[in-house]
Amino acid sequence: MPIFAPTSENIAHIAAALAAGEIAALPTETVYGLAADATNPWAVLKIYEAKGRPRFNPLIVHVPNLTEAQRYGAFSELALRLANAFWPGPLTLIVERAGEGLDTKFDVARAGLGSMTLRVPAHPLMQQVMQACGKPLAAPSANISGRISSTLAAHVAADFGEDMLILDGGACTQGLESTIIDCTTPTPTLLRAGALPRAAIEARVGPLADATGTNPTAPKAPGMLLQHYAPSAPVRLNATKVRAGEALLAFGPTPLYAPLMRNLSLRADLAEAALNVFAMLRELDSQNPAAIAVMPIPHEGLGEAINDRLTRAAVR
Ligand code: TXA
Ligand code: MG
Repeated sequence: MPIFAPTSENIAHIAAALAAGEIAALPTETVYGLAADATNPWAVLKIYEAKGRPRFNPLIVHVPNLTEAQRYGAFSELALRLANAFWPGPLTLIVERAGEGLDTKFDVARAGLGSMTLRVPAHPLMQQVMQACGKPLAAPSANISGRISSTLAAHVAADFGEDMLILDGGACTQGLESTIIDCTTPTPTLLRAGALPRAAIEARVGPLADATGTNPTAPKAPGMLLQHYAPSAPVRLNATKVRAGEALLAFGPTPLYAPLMRNLSLRADLAEAALNVFAMLRELDSQNPAAIAVMPIPHEGLGEAINDRLTRAAVR
């Protein structure tokens, strides 16, 4: 099956397939998602199967706006403040279930957890599919479980092959997954650093509690296992030189050189690096280097999320 160009006809076709219980890969501003009707357990099971994802790992439910989100979850004053400030956008909120969210038909998407995980994505194509489909869409990142996320339709096709329905939205504009905040704890907790930097959130709601420091083999976010985003080649972090056979993932102006190298951002811009990190890891990995040496990335702003992904990619 081809990758579908984003025509109104194709959008209608994909929305109808989703409503009928099929899965499809859709562009969002963060990364591509592998979507299914969140209220259809059989459809959601197809996502777990396609990704090889452990069944205990809950999915984010995507809805077109806050009003829809409130059909399924109870928004505290704090959760409302975050939703109003950052939706639509790269922020995922975990709230208590409420209303239709209490229905057992969400149990597979929630992986049996008591909470509801909601996001309102900003991508216009994702918005159009959600509107046309009329269902809340469960969608993890569109990659094989534990591997590198997809920021291009071609990445999705490389992972899932010809049979996957893929809507082509071009390159994702953020490049890193959404930031996840647990709003069910007394102080909101940062479960996953992501495309919305911590400082922007803390400016609205004060300091966030941190889920880091919890046991990485049994993390609060079941998907935040230490090893993730893994290329086939070993990843070596904080590289200050390149060893024989290694590919180089550089950052900023540098005298370092390797025959196989990419630069996340020649002008040392973290937003540009965020956009490039998954695609460049995939490109380097496809050449089967002995290892991928990664230069140090400053741990500020988006650097927190970039370093989170690279650290997990380096775990063997
Ligand atoms: O940007 C994104 O968030 C993308 C796009 C497609 O929206 N989606 C995404 O989904 O990254 P996924 O499944 O790859 O990552 C979601 C993470 C997983 O680690 C999962 O364990 C965690 O969120 N999660 C979801 N619901 C949770 C909950 N109720 N409690 C704790 N962790 C949760
Ligand atoms: Mg993922």
